[in-house]
Amino acid sequence: MTENVLEIKDISVDFITDSGRLKAVRHASFNVPKGKIIGLVGESGCGKSTLASVLIRLMSDNAVVSGESILFEGENLLDLAPEDMRALRGNKMTMIFQDPMTALNPVLTIGTQMTDIQHRSRASKLQKREIAVDMLKKVGIPDPKDRLNQYPHEFSGGMRQRICIAMALLSRPSLIIADEPTTALDVTLEAQIVHLLKDLQEEMGCSIICVSHHLGMIAELCHGVVVMYAGELIEQGTVQDIFHRAAHPYTQRLLECDPANIRCRSKNLPTIEGEIPNLVLLPKGCIFQDRCHKRIDLCTQREPDPTFIGPGHWASCHLLNQGENHV
Ligand SMILES: Nc1ncnc2c1ncn2[C@@H]1O[C@H](COP(=O)(O)OP(=O)(O)OP(=O)(O)O)[C@@H](O)[C@H]1O
Ligand code: SF4
Ligand SMILES: [Mg+2]
Repeated sequence: MTENVLEIKDISVDFITDSGRLKAVRHASFNVPKGKIIGLVGESGCGKSTLASVLIRLMSDNAVVSGESILFEGENLLDLAPEDMRALRGNKMTMIFQDPMTALNPVLTIGTQMTDIQHRSRASKLQKREIAVDMLKKVGIPDPKDRLNQYPHEFSGGMRQRICIAMALLSRPSLIIADEPTTALDVTLEAQIVHLLKDLQEEMGCSIICVSHHLGMIAELCHGVVVMYAGELIEQGTVQDIFHRAAHPYTQRLLECDPANIRCRSKNLPTIEGEIPNLVLLPKGCIFQDRCHKRIDLCTQREPDPTFIGPGHWASCHLLNQGENHV
């Protein structure tokens, strides 16, 4: 049995649009080790949610998925029939969304939703309610027994996200995919949810893929980080690799522009100059060339291959093969 709960090999996702095929994710490969949290970071529109959704196969109708394999506990999800994928989703693989209100049904009580979600279990209704109460206790909902009878709108935003986390954990999944789980919350609540996720992951031993814009949260929560730019995985490594030894010029700029790294007072927050390229008409060469201050001639001619930097640390930049240390 492999040490990875998930192994993604060469996965691409195109969206069929009126202006052509939008290549949202291209040749993505990465692993999620058992019991580890992997962060997926990058600017808005880089393809983070598309990559997260393809894993759980919750794609819009205009999506075309291609590639080698998505091995989940050794089974290729690309070969699964829709009904087998449905059985896996919400069971061994679950998802936490950005806005808990969209994940919860507003007209059903939390108790009903938490017992309904256990429909595959043979436990009695009473036992399912007890399991729900235990899980709500775990995520820090006070008076969980009484609160089972309340509706989503009777909870605060932070409480609702705790309930979504409880629901995602009910089936004791091997993998949780969390897409911007704290973006809708204020900073204090965000910190609470991050600690909660970390504690629960340690206690239950599951793996998590956490998608976020927020680098501070990724640094605090994750073991490994995958950096995406315009549909490509341009760097991967441990949290230490990415935050202390970033090798790709895009990762370096992303870190420089993180508000947490800005030490002097300024009216304007720094941003990476320029925009993500048009994903329908991709440029020849490196995908980051238009915005990269370190560009050399080769960058406009050939796409860089991933270069090994250290165990588990890879980046795709021509400078890494030029024998120069200034990347
Ligand atoms: N159903 C769709 N049809 C056409 N294009 C789509 C569709 N869904 C996403 N896209 C495009 O795919 C690209 C990647 O989008 P995605 O939502 O995955 O980015 P993201 O990194 O999650 O961004 P954000 O941080 O804003 O959530 C974007 O250019 C987006 O406009
Ligand atoms: S390959 Fe060239 S353009 Fe791309 S990130 Fe490296 S230096 Fe910049
Ligand atoms: Mg997204």
